[in-house]
Amino acid sequence: MSSSTPEPKRPQLRLRPASLAARWARALHDGFFNGAAYAMPTYFGTSPNRVDPESVWHFATCERTIPSQAFIDHWPPAPMRRRIMDRFLSQSHAEGIEYHYDVSNDFYALFLDRDYMFYTCADFHAPTDTIEQAQRQKADYIMALLDPKPGERIIELGCGWGAMLKHIATAIGDGSNLSGLTLSRDQFDYIGSQMGFAVELADLITHDYGTATYDKIYAIGALEHVRPDSILPLFQRLHAALKPGGWMVQHFFSLNGTDPVPTSMIAAQAYFPGSILSLHGDIRAKAERAGFRITHDSEHDYRPTLRAWFDRLVENRHKAEAIVGVQVVNKYLVYFASSWRFFDLRQASLHRLVLMKD
Ligand SMILES: C[S@@+](CC[C@H](N)C(=O)[O-])C[C@H]1O[C@@H](n2cnc3c(N)ncnc32)[C@H](O)[C@@H]1O
Repeated sequence: MSSSTPEPKRPQLRLRPASLAARWARALHDGFFNGAAYAMPTYFGTSPNRVDPESVWHFATCERTIPSQAFIDHWPPAPMRRRIMDRFLSQSHAEGIEYHYDVSNDFYALFLDRDYMFYTCADFHAPTDTIEQAQRQKADYIMALLDPKPGERIIELGCGWGAMLKHIATAIGDGSNLSGLTLSRDQFDYIGSQMGFAVELADLITHDYGTATYDKIYAIGALEHVRPDSILPLFQRLHAALKPGGWMVQHFFSLNGTDPVPTSMIAAQAYFPGSILSLHGDIRAKAERAGFRITHDSEHDYRPTLRAWFDRLVENRHKAEAIVGVQVVNKYLVYFASSWRFFDLRQASLHRLVLMKD
């Protein structure tokens, strides 16, 4: 790179080791202003020492007493939460994506499945399934929903490390009409260097999809990053982008219940700055308003995948620390464990939808 070309912006998880007193002070501050769940990743993530996995898992996933769970669920109170969330949502969505995904491809490879590097919920059919088997089962499930045929134009929104593109290309024996979008430069470089699919470093929310361009569209774990206000206009443009008789498969998790800003969404800002989930009912209603007919809505269990990533990261901890440092590894362990709890409490659920354009 020439000296006049600025270095591409490569945000890292900005965690510096801090003394126990400083971590407590920060935890109390964060706990008061942003809630207890938000304080946890920073507290553990700034530990100068590696956290004990069993203690983290237990701390994040154990049953709480009724008063302590009520505090986690209701502090800060709803009007304050909305103001806090407005502040978080004023952050750049695109930078938030980089912040989470551009940590290091080699780091992600240490805990994701070795065949594909899917970073989304897998299908465990039995407790003895490996993450590799479970991701293949998920990929087969999505293949059945998408039913891709050679020659069809298909785009993946938020294509990660190219896992599903690879699975489809292998199954139909042709990858030339497959394309994808990602906002992560690391993922974009990885797919370009290893696979050669037509992948663009572009924002799926503002991308120009054209009219009647695609036979099929799918997204696996990307709708979570689209803010509620952007869902309807995005669905309308995706509806227009499909050929008549085409369809879209959406795999995503969304909030159960009716509160659009639960405390968990503030906590999530520690991992995905600038992203907020939608209510499941709202997503379905917006899909229908955009003109889609919902022909499939299945629910799947994210917990075994989170546990498998946690275990594999623990297994590869030394290598991971050598790449990203102790603090980032600590933070991901807390992330997997607290996400497990989030699904266990049924605050959110993973769904797969098929949306038809008649
Ligand atoms: C959880 S990962 C899932 C990746 C992949 N689909 C998989 O199953 O492993 C979410 C993906 O969505 C992408 N993404 C999120 N928001 C995006 C946006 N606005 N534009 C393009 N890509 C986005 C991320 O870069 C990442 O590739």
